[in-house]
Amino acid sequence: MRGLFEAAPREQARVLVVHHNVLRGDISRRMGLARWRQAQRRIVASGAEVVLCGHDHEEGAELLGGRVVVSTAGTLCRRTRGGRPSSFNFVTIEPTAVHITYFRWDVESRRFRASDTTAFARPGREAPAQQVQAAS
Ligand SMILES: [Fe+2]
Repeated sequence: MRGLFEAAPREQARVLVVHHNVLRGDISRRMGLARWRQAQRRIVASGAEVVLCGHDHEEGAELLGGRVVVSTAGTLCRRTRGGRPSSFNFVTIEPTAVHITYFRWDVESRRFRASDTTAFARPGREAPAQQVQAAS
């Protein structure tokens, strides 16, 4: 993975997609991976900038290792955690920032509606990423 990311053109975002959640679920308190410490170290060392994952059925937007943006998708089925609405994450990668917006199912209007957005600065190779919470 590291070799692929290193060889890619500099202007391209390094995005890693895995099924299982790489961070502990807030509600489930579960890690999605059996050897999660090793997996987290490898992800950080890979040069990935953004990780897209799911499995835990609870949406999340956090940093791993202070610099890898992790977008954990909720679920579109009814098996949500804590009776939460179904949701998906809309991830936007810009030259200087990564934005993750949760779209949650709204029962009344019977449609997904944009909800919270979390923004992460997308630094060059030098500075650590920063997280900014924005409510909409
Ligand atoms: Fe799963």
